[in-house]
Amino acid sequence: MNEMRELLREAGVVPVLSIADPARAVPLAEALLAGGLRHLEITFRTPAALDALRAIVDAVPAAQAGAGTVTTAAQADAAGAAGARFLVGPGFSADVARRAADLGLPYLPGVATASEIMAAGAHGLDCLKFFPAGPMGGIATLKALAGPFPDVVFCPTGGIDGTNAADYLALSNVLAVGGSWPAPADLVAAGDFDEITARARAAKALVGGPCEPH
Ligand code: 3PG
Repeated sequence: MNEMRELLREAGVVPVLSIADPARAVPLAEALLAGGLRHLEITFRTPAALDALRAIVDAVPAAQAGAGTVTTAAQADAAGAAGARFLVGPGFSADVARRAADLGLPYLPGVATASEIMAAGAHGLDCLKFFPAGPMGGIATLKALAGPFPDVVFCPTGGIDGTNAADYLALSNVLAVGGSWPAPADLVAAGDFDEITARARAAKALVGGPCEPH
């Protein structure tokens, strides 16, 4: 079993987190866990990201904390050293793919076109982030890609929320969806963890029961 597939199948919904204040990291992870979401993508978009990742890894062992927005091998190294369980990128990088393999970390690169799927496939990657899902054609594009790439599965991310997540999750080539809607940066900054738990619970409910193997 491909480790990234297993992780996504278990997750169903992956909250994409942008944490500006590392002091928010642990209560945020706990709030998401309380709502049933434990696979967390901590994006490397804020100066606090690495500290936030480290804090969650240390204090919330039940969380599966990964690093997002990983675009370089150096970031992959830093994420691995901080204890990341997986790496996510907005696009595909052969450098990151090689480093992730060296580190033994599952890597979910972003793709939006057939050529990018083929480039990732050349590195043995067939479990991919479809990004940015909404602007790149959403469900219609995922259905079209299933024809030439019947063995590729996706975690669409970008433009997904509680109104459309279930439609994405119903696709046979979608294992999970990602998005900021369970824990948007403004709620994190405001420390509104009750609302985040409620959103996580609602998001997890969209996933339903155990997924059938794809
Ligand atoms: C991102 O890159 O910001 C993520 O894909 C989240 O996108 P979203 O805010 O549209 O969910």
